Amino acid sequence: MTDFELLERDGLARRGRLSTPHGPIETPALLPVVHPDPARQAASPRWMRETLGLGAVITSAYITWRSPPLSAVARERGIHGLLDFDGPIMTDSGAFQQHAYGSVEITPEESLGFQEAIGSDIATVLDVFTEPEAPRDHAAEGLEITLERARRARAGRSGLLAVPVQGGAYPDLRARSAEAASQIGDVLAVGGVVPLLEQYRFVELVRAVAAARPHLAPDRAVHLFGAGHPMTFALGALLGVDLFDSSAYIKFARRGALLVPDGTVPVRGLRERICECALCRERPLTELGELSAGDREVHLARHNLLASAEEMARVRQAIREGTLWELVERRTTAHPALRAALRSLTSQPELFLPTEPDRRRAFREVTAESRRRPSVVAFQRRVEAYRARRVAPRRLPAVPLRPEYLRWIPREDRDGQPLEWVSATPLGDVPLELLETYPVGPFLGLAEFESPRRPCPVAALRSLLDADPTLGTDRGDRWQPDWDRVQIQALLEWRYGPEIVRRLEIARLKVGRSRRTLRVRWIEADGRPLWVVGNDGQAHPTFEGAVQLLSSAPGLVPRVTVHPEAAEFVAAGRSLFSKFVVRADPALRVEMTAPLVDPSDRLLAVGRLLLAPTEMGRMSRGVAVRVTGHARSPPELEPEPEPVALDG
Ligand code: GUN
Ligand code: ZN
Repeated sequence: MTDFELLERDGLARRGRLSTPHGPIETPALLPVVHPDPARQAASPRWMRETLGLGAVITSAYITWRSPPLSAVARERGIHGLLDFDGPIMTDSGAFQQHAYGSVEITPEESLGFQEAIGSDIATVLDVFTEPEAPRDHAAEGLEITLERARRARAGRSGLLAVPVQGGAYPDLRARSAEAASQIGDVLAVGGVVPLLEQYRFVELVRAVAAARPHLAPDRAVHLFGAGHPMTFALGALLGVDLFDSSAYIKFARRGALLVPDGTVPVRGLRERICECALCRERPLTELGELSAGDREVHLARHNLLASAEEMARVRQAIREGTLWELVERRTTAHPALRAALRSLTSQPELFLPTEPDRRRAFREVTAESRRRPSVVAFQRRVEAYRARRVAPRRLPAVPLRPEYLRWIPREDRDGQPLEWVSATPLGDVPLELLETYPVGPFLGLAEFESPRRPCPVAALRSLLDADPTLGTDRGDRWQPDWDRVQIQALLEWRYGPEIVRRLEIARLKVGRSRRTLRVRWIEADGRPLWVVGNDGQAHPTFEGAVQLLSSAPGLVPRVTVHPEAAEFVAAGRSLFSKFVVRADPALRVEMTAPLVDPSDRLLAVGRLLLAPTEMGRMSRGVAVRVTGHARSPPELEPEPEPVALDG
């Protein structure tokens, strides 16, 4: 049983909950580094929690241990007593001091024993901090020492244990470190990156995290040591980092610098009140010169914490909304080094594709980089496969050229005959029948606003109409039966592939369309909805739809097999918990709606996947599939909201 629960996700990014003896940590979370000596701390942990909602902190067990007065209080009243804080406290081991000062006189056993003795909620193994410049043999050796210490630490600790992931600049060592740490730790803490953060070497930073990421167990919280500038939070979360810690708020305050999500502002010479947060309203930034150096530092530290807490909240909100990529694209414009880091991430889509959701509510083009998102890569690959499957070009019916239905005009037209209606979209050529599919369907980009009102190339429309005057809106509804058939085929093939679609009785199926936009809203048979088509332009089976699928193509339909113990709950509409998943077909993707069956293939329900098939067996806590339709009572057709028309 692990202590991390995944609640919501946006690709690799997760919103989760880590349970500790002093309460849960809602992730992604910033754990501010606090000094163990309350007299030297610019803001108390209690204030951080009560005023800013920062519920957990990290402190140095080593600095506490080294100071006889602090260590005496900590041993007597616990670390919670010393910090006067009853929320979750993570302790660090002293590895960083070892790195900074050359050596520390504490042994790994003493470090762990002390963290245990003072009641740390999350204790950290004394690792070997590996510099990014370390030669390979150094990095490899440090890694093995760290792992050996971690194994011994585990044997002596029943509470939560953070195991650092080192490996320097060597991807294979990062991978090995991540793999081995996953066997031992509750919190997997990517370390050795502080120099990269300090020197804006973000490309190397994301390479280090990316190399470790696929090898980190999905049911453990992931920590990134030292990432405390708010401009790095969204990027870190995008890579699946759950916990951030840093002393950046105080370090920058000492230098007289204000942290904001898109950079750092020196307050010297500031003539405008660029922050109106509650703290800066009370004590305007332009008047900080009147304060003593100490008071100014306290003010800046508190503002920096507030700005950091706020940014972390935005990151969590973006994960809830499925808009984290947009936030990252905006944040990375803060510095070319961050843009370079994002670019290096989008050049490795394979990192993201296994957990990339099948749909999101929206797709907003933020920068030129937006079109390189993994969702676009995944879509383009599927479109390519879909088009390649068309063995013989088939004659397609004319389509309803309703401007509100079409955003782009088909341009492939051989010998004057429409063989394949393809739209040149900003995300590449897309068959017309798939034009509503995520991400091209909800795509909102520059093109819509650059060309006057309608993005359709009017000349192309006119030449099509000249060639065949029967095309277009004045054809009434005669286009519909043919085009319906094409779309039913396309939507189901997109979802299930040609093999399964061949076995379905397509001729029996009908579509329901939105009257206003003509978009397909559902696919039905005998008046019963079998698939519902959302704003993602994809077909999601109802319970009835799953019945049809399983009876037409038994054994072929990608599905989730539920443990008998949970079968009746699922059949009654309760969520399927990860620990009750017996098997999940590898063809399933996050956010898809799939049939849930018992081990004898009896259909229990249909539901939306929160986890990727590879994760389902490996998460001991939390929901794997949210049931959307089930056996005990027939599902209602959920009315889909009408899409917002772009051009009125
Ligand atoms: N603090 C910043 N970096 C590190 C690291 O690599 N290991 C540990 N234990 N603490 C850190
Ligand atoms: Zn402020």
